[in-house]
Amino acid sequence: MKITVVGTGYVGLVTGTCFAETGNDVTCVDIDANKVKKLSSGQITIYEPGLEKLFERNLKEGRLSFTTSLEEGIKGAEVIFLALPTPPGADGAADLSFVLNVAAHLGKIMTDYKVIVDKSTVPVGTAERVAAAIAENCKTPFDVVSNPEFLREGVAVDDFMKPDRVVIGTTSERARKVMGDLYAPFVRQGNPILFMDEKSAELTKYAANSFLATKISFMNEIAILCEKLGADVDMVRRGIGSDDRIGKRFLFPGIGYGGSCFPKDVQALVKSSEDVQYNFKILNAVMDVNERQKLFLLPKIQNYFNNDLGGKHFALWGLAFKPNTDDIREAPALYIIEALLAAGATISVFDPEAMSNVQRLLSNKNGKIVYAEHQYTCLENADALIIATEWSVFRTPDFQKISTSLKNKVIFDGRNLFDIARMKELGYHYESVGRIPVSL
Ligand SMILES: NC(=O)c1ccc[n+]([C@@H]2O[C@H](COP(=O)([O-])OP(=O)(O)OC[C@H]3O[C@@H](n4cnc5c(N)ncnc54)[C@H](O)[C@@H]3O)[C@@H](O)[C@H]2O)c1
Repeated sequence: MKITVVGTGYVGLVTGTCFAETGNDVTCVDIDANKVKKLSSGQITIYEPGLEKLFERNLKEGRLSFTTSLEEGIKGAEVIFLALPTPPGADGAADLSFVLNVAAHLGKIMTDYKVIVDKSTVPVGTAERVAAAIAENCKTPFDVVSNPEFLREGVAVDDFMKPDRVVIGTTSERARKVMGDLYAPFVRQGNPILFMDEKSAELTKYAANSFLATKISFMNEIAILCEKLGADVDMVRRGIGSDDRIGKRFLFPGIGYGGSCFPKDVQALVKSSEDVQYNFKILNAVMDVNERQKLFLLPKIQNYFNNDLGGKHFALWGLAFKPNTDDIREAPALYIIEALLAAGATISVFDPEAMSNVQRLLSNKNGKIVYAEHQYTCLENADALIIATEWSVFRTPDFQKISTSLKNKVIFDGRNLFDIARMKELGYHYESVGRIPVSL
């Protein structure tokens, strides 16, 4: 099948590459000329495990190509995916201008039947608005389908190739057949394609992300309670996770969720609820808890240093919003950096993949941020180590090297990487989330 993917970011590039991998002829369109140039010359633009190999193979074999021209990109295409940004607008609602502008443009240049697929996360009713934007100038028949994406950055290729489910919202038999054929190779192991109406598909995506964010904020509140009551959240987590109605996954407390999806999607669902005069109380609380949680370590750090961080130097491990990605959108680490700088401290940072993205965003703030080349050089002369992302390379570090590089054996761990008893044995002052602190 000939497919076009409009928007070649985290979702678009994975979608395009994975459809090419199953034999389709894919053209990816992006307005970012630099990105298109890089991709066309075989240079991958995001870090995503497993993607580079598939990208190189499909590019070489001619099934994957890139262009900045929408007109050129849709030539001969049967299906056009929209994997465009839907960032929060000033009022928290999803900004649909990227999606609707491209839809209007498509209406002007489409000359035969096409299935236009909303892969971006969009509020209920968007499929209708996209159809209206296309129809304004379009003379050929078309269908608009809602096909929300559930991939997780860091395991995106696996998620796309072996999805738990594929959700397809359409009431058109013609589009249903096209989409069913396209996704058939991805559901051979019995994972379902769930066909439904467009609105239900659109809401499914927001409901999924909001539920997961709720689980995180719930556990973060349990962790706070654990600290206040003298319980251990690891024990509580295991205790409740053994109940299969609750499940073991997504029960890890930490310093809040970030990324390009949970924060904006929870906010957008709250706004959609307000638009129909409904106060979604739980989600408002989920957002409040998460805002507070991003700076959860700060009072602990302040307290340890007698409320005087002026002139202190910290090492920060982990900048990406989660491991195995270079994505720093809404990353808790960024909030920690800002708070430490505002308190008069300086910071050395290290992340296996996200350094250049942070450097581009924050630069070095007049020498107050140092970008370390290695996780251990990052520690030199630091008063304490702070951990913000649970990259595997941080899980079993060389504690000997840590203690010789740091000025003090002090670690504030926002991801509960280390065993409390072990830290006690090694003689660290170690504070984490929802567990009994180890004091020097
Ligand atoms: N990132 C995720 O993990 C994830 C997962 C599921 C769903 N989503 C949703 O998918 C959508 C895309 O997210 P993303 O993370 O891939 O965004 P992204 O910012 O990484 O990529 C968007 C791309 O669209 C391009 N673009 C913008 N305007 C364009 C235009 N007019 N024509 C062509 N290209 C244009 C940008 O240059 C960029 O490359 C969002 O709605 C998001 O909520 C994201």
